Parts: sequence; C-alpha cells; structure tokens
Amino acid sequence: EKQGFRHFMLKEIHEQPSVVRTCLEVYFNPDWQQKGTKPVNLNLSSELIDNLENIQIVACGTSWHASLVGKYLLEQIAEIPTFVQYASEYRYSPSPIMANTMTIGVTQSGETADTLAALGMERQRRSGLDKPYRPRIVGISNRPESTLGGMVDQLINTYAGIEIGVAATKTFVAQVMAFYVLALDLAWQRKTISPERIDQILAGLLQLPTQIEKILQTQEAKIEELAHNFPETRDFVFLGRGINFPIALEGALKLKEISYIHAEGYPAGEMKHGPIALLDAHVPVVAIAMGGSVYEKVISNAQEAKARDARLIGIVPQSYDDEVFHDILNVPEVEELLSPILAVIPLQLLSYYIASLRGLDVDQPRNLAKSVTVE
Ligand code: F6R
Repeated sequence: EKQGFRHFMLKEIHEQPSVVRTCLEVYFNPDWQQKGTKPVNLNLSSELIDNLENIQIVACGTSWHASLVGKYLLEQIAEIPTFVQYASEYRYSPSPIMANTMTIGVTQSGETADTLAALGMERQRRSGLDKPYRPRIVGISNRPESTLGGMVDQLINTYAGIEIGVAATKTFVAQVMAFYVLALDLAWQRKTISPERIDQILAGLLQLPTQIEKILQTQEAKIEELAHNFPETRDFVFLGRGINFPIALEGALKLKEISYIHAEGYPAGEMKHGPIALLDAHVPVVAIAMGGSVYEKVISNAQEAKARDARLIGIVPQSYDDEVFHDILNVPEVEELLSPILAVIPLQLLSYYIASLRGLDVDQPRNLAKSVTVE
C-alpha cells in the first residue's frame, strides 16, 4: 500500500498535489463571476456568521500551526480579528467570553482529547447566554465521522484521505487549504476584498498543485543529498516571518518528531532577542525567504545568523538565489499569501531524509501516537 515509496510519510508528501487539487475542485468556482455564483462552496449557516466579530481557534501540534496560517488569512483577507489558542491551555484558562465569536476546532483526526475538551467547555460555558454570546462552533477535520464531527455546528472536511505516517504532512496542507476556503468565503461575504482580488487569489491557488509537483521533481534529490550533511547535528533553527512564521514552527516540529534532533522555529525578528546566542558552526539555520513584503527582513536576519558561522539553508523562490545562503532549496514563485503551501514541502522532505538517513522509523516515531486521545 506504500505504492513503491519506502515510507507512508514519503507517499503522503507526494500525495499533496492531489490533495490540493481535490480541495480546489470541491470548494472553489473559478468561473463564479460568469456564472453568477459564489467563489466558494461553503454554506456556513447564518447562525454561524451573522454579526460575526471575532474568531478563536483551538488546536494542538501541527493543527495549531495550520491555525496560525489561518489567523493570518482571516485577518488579512477577511479582516476578522482571530486568536489562536493551544487547546490544552485554553481548556483550563479560557479568555473572557466575547460577543459574536466563532470558535473553530482544528484537528485532522477529530479525536484529540484537548481539542475536543476545549470545544466542549466553550459550548458549555456559552449555552444559555444571550444571543450575541451563544456558542457557534465549527470544526476543520479530515474525519467528519470522528467525535469532533458530532460536536460541532458545522464541519469543514479537508478531504486529504487517510494519513498513516504519524507526522502530519498532507493533512497540514489540507488544513491550510481549508483556511483559504473559509477566509475567501468570509472575505467575499463581507466584501473586504474586490472580486478582482478574489480571482487573482483563485488563479494563484489553481497553480499550487503543479507548483508542488515541480518542487517534488526538482528538489527532492537535492534535499536527500543535503541531508547527508547532518549526521551528527544536534540542533536546528528555522526562521520565518509573517505568513511563513508558522511554517518555521512546522519545519522544526517535523524534524523533532521524526529525526529526534532538537529544533526551534522562531519569527526571524525575534532571533536577536535571545536565541541568536545559540548559534555557531554546529547549528544549521533554515531561513524561509519566500519573497513578498518581508523578504529583505528575513535576508538580513539570515545574514546575522551567518555572521555567527551558522550553515544557512534558504527556502527561496527561483529567481531570488541570494548569495547569503550556503544551500538553496528553490520553490516556484508565488504571491506571499499562497507561499506557505509551497514553503512547507522542502521542509517536510528535509526532515524525512534526515530521519531516514539516521535509520529511524519515520512512520512510527518513538513516544508518539497518531491520535492523542488522552490529556
Ligand atoms: C505532528 C502531529 C501532531 C498532531 C497533533 C494534533 O506531526 O502529528 O502534532 O498535529 O497531535 O493532532 P490532530 O490534528 O489529530 O488533532
């Protein structure tokens, strides 16, 4: 069932173009203007969206990272203040109740105990309150038949197909896609962006599957070779800014989970506030420099790391080959808003190849389970 791949994780990484394609087919209408329909097929009920003022998201692990990308999209496209919480924290120290709040639980398995408990607590403390304070609970999941599916007012299915590797890859990309769906639908309804801008984003989204394929075709061998440089490496740092800060966190988490190398993800601008003290020739730094508004800033943060002798690996759009990097992993050029989906692919491959060269059980890392159904 691994279809010729050595591990399920590698198979699932390679399934990502088709996962994105499925999401595009199910949820988007690129010809909506000609047809007089909506750009997005998401029929959230009016109970959920009327007078919506803010969104809070609860999740764990990789789903929490997808939620951080979601926050960026919901705030920047749909202009809705959004707060992302660790479910394990939120369930015991929830924020004061705000009016007209949508709460979204993001869990690929739909069974994560903390996420379910946070949503249950939220529903319970809001039930019986006046209309503006009533619970409005949405789920984003790859398993509509899960416990989550039965708890929420509405579920957004991510259609990634079953994921067997313990480290989430295709379900992460599918969750981020679900946030494009949600943010674009809300942006359209609230008219926070123009129909032309919606079309521009849709056109960009439609390119993603072939762009992911291109990364897999052109970068995989290079990444496997690069991975040979880190047999003894004990620490890695991942840097990103803006919409790619969560991708730095995700790159670090993937590496930790399957290679057991200590890795930290930071917003690049935070380096100088402490973590830069860690850097020396033994700590490789991966900088996500995808172009767009923060490109120059990331490059200058990368330069600071280089000055501490760190080996610098850049995730960089094709035409941007910057001399600051020792190693460059290229991704197709894409507008900043869509860049996380491409930036994460080389990071998944990098952690896969580092772990697999170490001879580790990539699909079943020690101490981890696919669904964390206990607190
Ligand atoms: C990371 C990973 C975990 C899960 C987390 C939440 O690769 O697999 O961090 O993302 O346990 O799981 P779900 O999304 O099922 O709630």
